[in-house]
Amino acid sequence: MTTNSASDKRHDNPDEVRQTGLNQGLVNYGDAGFSLFLRKAFIKGAGYSDDALNRTIVGIVNTGSGYNPCHGNAPQLIEAVKRGVMLEGGLPIEFPTISIAESFSTPTSMYLRNLMSMDTEEMIRAQPMDSVVLIGGCDKTVPAQLMGAASANLPMLELVTGAMLTSGHRGVRVGACTDCRRYWGMYRGQEIDDQEIEEVNAKLVGSVGTCSVMGTASTMACISEALGVALPGSASPPAVTADRMRVAEATGRQAVINARAGVTPDKILTEKAFENALRVLLAIGGSTNGIIHLTAIAGRMGIDIDLAAFDRMSRETPVLVDLKPSGQHYMEDLHRAGGLPTVLRELKPLLHLDAMTVTGRTLGEEIDAAPAFEQRVVHRFDAPLYPAGGIAFVRGNLAPGGAIIKQSAADARLMEHEGRAVVFEDAEDMAARIDDPTLDVTAEDVLVLKRIGPVGAPGMPEAGYLPIPRKLARQGVRDMLRISDGRMSGTAAGSIVLHVTPEAALGGPLALVENGDRIRLSVSERRLELLVDEAELARRREGWRPVALTAERGYRKLFLEQITQADQGCDFAFLRPPTIQRRVPK
Ligand code: FES
Repeated sequence: MTTNSASDKRHDNPDEVRQTGLNQGLVNYGDAGFSLFLRKAFIKGAGYSDDALNRTIVGIVNTGSGYNPCHGNAPQLIEAVKRGVMLEGGLPIEFPTISIAESFSTPTSMYLRNLMSMDTEEMIRAQPMDSVVLIGGCDKTVPAQLMGAASANLPMLELVTGAMLTSGHRGVRVGACTDCRRYWGMYRGQEIDDQEIEEVNAKLVGSVGTCSVMGTASTMACISEALGVALPGSASPPAVTADRMRVAEATGRQAVINARAGVTPDKILTEKAFENALRVLLAIGGSTNGIIHLTAIAGRMGIDIDLAAFDRMSRETPVLVDLKPSGQHYMEDLHRAGGLPTVLRELKPLLHLDAMTVTGRTLGEEIDAAPAFEQRVVHRFDAPLYPAGGIAFVRGNLAPGGAIIKQSAADARLMEHEGRAVVFEDAEDMAARIDDPTLDVTAEDVLVLKRIGPVGAPGMPEAGYLPIPRKLARQGVRDMLRISDGRMSGTAAGSIVLHVTPEAALGGPLALVENGDRIRLSVSERRLELLVDEAELARRREGWRPVALTAERGYRKLFLEQITQADQGCDFAFLRPPTIQRRVPK
């Protein structure tokens, strides 16, 4: 029997003695000896020896699924993690949880993120293991796993599946999914025909793995590394490479070491770690979804993200990584450029170098240990790709609780803009009218979409990337100012204000916008204003009627009753700790 002394918050009773290995978390039959006897009898039926069963146990979360090509390399990763665990003298045991793939989850993967976090947390709590390796990758899976594992507080390491390879279409290098949107925009604008759009459809995804640009999956991979919960250099190796398999093996080894040393998430996920992660989110030109997910993960640790302070951080943190959608390269290029350690080295003056990582060494020590060499993907701090942070936080009478815009992937011309509102009441209304040739819209107007927030849709879908009305697309218009209470894919680009809080479905000011109103955005002043006088807004508020936000039963009922707004990470209220005592960035 192992005798590790890992601290354990999985049991609510503080007097309960920490058990390890197979004899922890016994089924309650009222006779502990019988419970262990029965458990061993069953697992021996699978051919295990006592020697194997007496080892340190590393659980491996298997999120492989036929519906999730982003996790298509899960079987190989699991094999490599198992090898690492056994090299270190431990016993690996894999187990499944929910797997969420972005393009296979209706109404939106975000609707299921919290369910996956609950599954992850409770299966870690329920089953005997001394540490856990979380294999995630596609957008919502990594945040779900980190949220659940943070709450379970068992030693853990995140292992991302890694990015897909790029491919080529008629001599042009392509990868999902910034290029997916670019080609679809060309198709809508009649620049390419039916045959070519079919052809490119088969070229965009070069292999299994996550999206090949700095979308949400790559962002969360980098954030995991920056938080210190994934091995240094583990964010960037592509899914199908030898480097990725070696990272998996090393992760398995480290999971055994950390189980024995009791390296619980609360020792890693500190305020300094979250400040480092916020810096990295900005410097990589990361997905706007990253701020929601980081808020949710931090919330599980009792830490609030102060979005106004984050915005101040944004003004002094340049975008350094030249990856789509902010730049031109792909994740495999970042890997060849040294991966995240190359970014961290440039960011050193802004980071907490004493933050601890899962290796037992500090972030600063890991940066110093990584090789430095000439490369062209990560810009120098004094010659950035974009001078200020990729994400700006704006506020005003249209978004009293705030909204965000990814300015590094937007049209600079529209960052100071006033225009006439063209309003869609919900996603169905937009789908019905956006391509109507009679739609009264010009390129200078502001497209407004309501009711795609956390409860409105529900699940805050990535519908904030409103398509350019077809009649304008055919005139060559490629960007317009667009505003909604929804999200957009991290792979998307455009002048798009997102996460307007409070959302329209809850009666936020966005609900009161009417066709023809004037809206003003000033990113330099961080303002988003509805230029309608207060008396008129009061009149509209008086007449506004909510749509019933409930369901008779099931997960949808739980979701609608418990979902929080974007500024609380869209976590379920009951999953957050009773008190939030700390606030970052300082
Ligand atoms: Fe899975 Fe992009 S769709 S990572």
